[in-house]
Amino acid sequence: MKPVQLAESIYWVGGIDWNLRNFHGYLTQRGSTYNAYLIIDEKITLIDTVKHYLTDELFERVSQVVDPAKIDYVVANHVEMDHSGGLPAVLEKAPNATLFTSPNGEKGLKEHFKNNWNFKAVKNGETLSLGKHSLAFTHTPMVHWPDNMVTWCPEEKILFSNDAFGQHIASAERFDDEYPLETILAEAMKYYANIVLPYGAQVQKALEALAGLPIRLIAPSHGIAWRAHVPEILKRYQAWSANITGRKAVIVYDTMWDSTAKMAAAIRSGFEEKDVPVVMASLQHNHMSDIMTEIMTAQYVCVGSPTLNNNLLPTVAAFLTYMKGLAPKNRIGLAFGSYGWGGQSIEQVNDVLKECGWTMMNPLKVKYIPSQDDLSSVRETVIKAIT
Ligand code: FEO
Repeated sequence: MKPVQLAESIYWVGGIDWNLRNFHGYLTQRGSTYNAYLIIDEKITLIDTVKHYLTDELFERVSQVVDPAKIDYVVANHVEMDHSGGLPAVLEKAPNATLFTSPNGEKGLKEHFKNNWNFKAVKNGETLSLGKHSLAFTHTPMVHWPDNMVTWCPEEKILFSNDAFGQHIASAERFDDEYPLETILAEAMKYYANIVLPYGAQVQKALEALAGLPIRLIAPSHGIAWRAHVPEILKRYQAWSANITGRKAVIVYDTMWDSTAKMAAAIRSGFEEKDVPVVMASLQHNHMSDIMTEIMTAQYVCVGSPTLNNNLLPTVAAFLTYMKGLAPKNRIGLAFGSYGWGGQSIEQVNDVLKECGWTMMNPLKVKYIPSQDDLSSVRETVIKAIT
């Protein structure tokens, strides 16, 4: 397993997780990578590590450039264990290495690993000389943990951005001019929707802090590095963090005996009548992380569940829990569903969407099987509610 050269003395030495399909609830159809970077200079420096089970792969790549025991500095841009899992093994091989991280990084790494490594907490804006290269650290708190920072190498104009601008893609290719751009952008958007979405304000601050840097290459900690399309991914992050939604509806639902599905179809017909494009998202056929990607750009979000044992269907409950955590703002919501006697699910959905702070349409509920009149009424109600 070879390292990949990014610049004269800078190498990608990460691990490729071909089989990853679940990243804390996020469906990662294409696997992922954990990107670590090695800088050869007077001070040999490793930026980030890999998930613990890919540490041997990291060492194999590093060893083709330098003996891992010779690493002088390790930079931990982020505490989360997909990037810090290899730290114990790295610092066992290079016990005298200094570990540079943010103050919250030091706190978090100590809490994770209960290890008194040779920490050096860096201030926001602090720089570090490696010899010919230098590194400048910018704290990016809550993009997406309190400890996050990004690392800039001005001599090579490389931004080591950690999770920001990343995508869950496992591939032999490392650069955005070697892999289909539409796929990289789609995966970057899915990554944003499922990891970064709650932190739009913090992303905007981070983008401000990075504005004006003459970036030649963005080297994130997941997936493909950006060198041919740097302005494009920065522009996308601007738009995504500004929470710009379009005239689009996503109808998320599950169904027991097809009645809630029939209501979903009638709601769709109402939106179509008003020329609002609709995405139908049955929870039996779509993963919630893919649905979140659609919701990111949708003005209207309708969620339907029949009532099961005075409650929601578990698929809808799971989706609502997941979505509420990701906290999309400024949507127009609609709760709907069929029921037999209790009908509690519709109010339960409505309550969760209200808790998201959304503007709500009146909930729609139908007893047992919707008649043609019921479905016409659902459709007309939607038509009237849309401006
Ligand atoms: Fe890729 Fe927040 O870890």
